[in-house]
Amino acid sequence: MNSFFINGKEINPPLILAPMAGLSEKILRITLFEMKFVGFAVTELVPAEGILRKTLKIENYLNKSDVDFTALQLCGGNPLRVFEAASLASELGVKFIDINMGCPVNKIVKAGGGAALLKDPQKAALMVEKISKNLKITVSCKIRSGFDEKNINFLEIGKLLEESGASMVAIHPRTRSQMYHGRAEWDHIAELKRALKIPVLGNGDIITPEDAKKMAEKTKCDGIMIGRGAVKNPFLFKQIKSLFENGYYEEVTFQEKLNFLILHFQNLMKELSKENSLHFMKVFVGKYTKGMVESAKLRQSLSLVKDPEELLLKVLDFKNEFEKNFFKEN
Ligand SMILES: Cc1cc2nc3c(=O)[nH]c(=O)nc-3n(C[C@H](O)[C@H](O)[C@H](O)COP(=O)(O)O)c2cc1C
Repeated sequence: MNSFFINGKEINPPLILAPMAGLSEKILRITLFEMKFVGFAVTELVPAEGILRKTLKIENYLNKSDVDFTALQLCGGNPLRVFEAASLASELGVKFIDINMGCPVNKIVKAGGGAALLKDPQKAALMVEKISKNLKITVSCKIRSGFDEKNINFLEIGKLLEESGASMVAIHPRTRSQMYHGRAEWDHIAELKRALKIPVLGNGDIITPEDAKKMAEKTKCDGIMIGRGAVKNPFLFKQIKSLFENGYYEEVTFQEKLNFLILHFQNLMKELSKENSLHFMKVFVGKYTKGMVESAKLRQSLSLVKDPEELLLKVLDFKNEFEKNFFKEN
């Protein structure tokens, strides 16, 4: 799979961390960039109203160190308000804005944002046009196939977004009604890719490197965006790259996984407050250690830990114990 360009910027590898509320946080992204696993990433959705009313701070979502390859995902139902939030972001040095046109959550849809925009393609297009015409910022959009199975309109909306100045479109080919049920309809990715000139990212149900290869072959998408599979196994990106480049990939060892976890946790402790780093460490320890021998005990022992340093020490002990047993057995 070749790299691709958005507004002259090369995305290499063409693998993208999907926006995921509560998971695709800035330190995970920094760590993935440090490992050269991804070429681009999108923050979790950030309500434009929150930014404008100052209840949310852009700096909490996006670091100076990753603005070059990360899009701030804005969410809202009012083109003017989304534009104002994008202007603020631009003043802070943000270079990429992604507009959320797929969130299925009721509260967001009721406010006219997220997947509600699929029902109003003209409004969605206006949002993109206002930003792309008036700000020095690159705009992309993340869409679904349509609002429900009677309203599958990804082609109409994709073309409108391109005409309005979007530089890239990512499609998660499920409808809003499907939420996360059923299979992602990869044929929609292929159709959208054939219809647009701008890069199209394929998203949905990539759990193994083989899935990524199948998606690339079937859809010819420019890049692959991965969500849930990436937080279960951040090495998925490396494995996909290897499968594309060499025709094979190595299984990830528990040791490699633990090393990644430790790097991620050290980065969290360096960058975030004690409270926030502890929160994310507890979230990610659950994801990363699932399936490891004796890891349920580790997770249990961490539930009462109140200090990030203590949590890291327990993980290091777990790693040492794991290695001792590993070398005994081999
Ligand atoms: C916990 C969680 C949070 C999500 N948050 C967002 C979000 O903030 N913005 C967005 O566009 N999509 C969000 N998504 C959707 C993902 O970006 C992605 O489209 C979806 O999970 C399908 O891809 P996957 O099969 O690789 O996970 C979220 C998904 C999950 C599971």
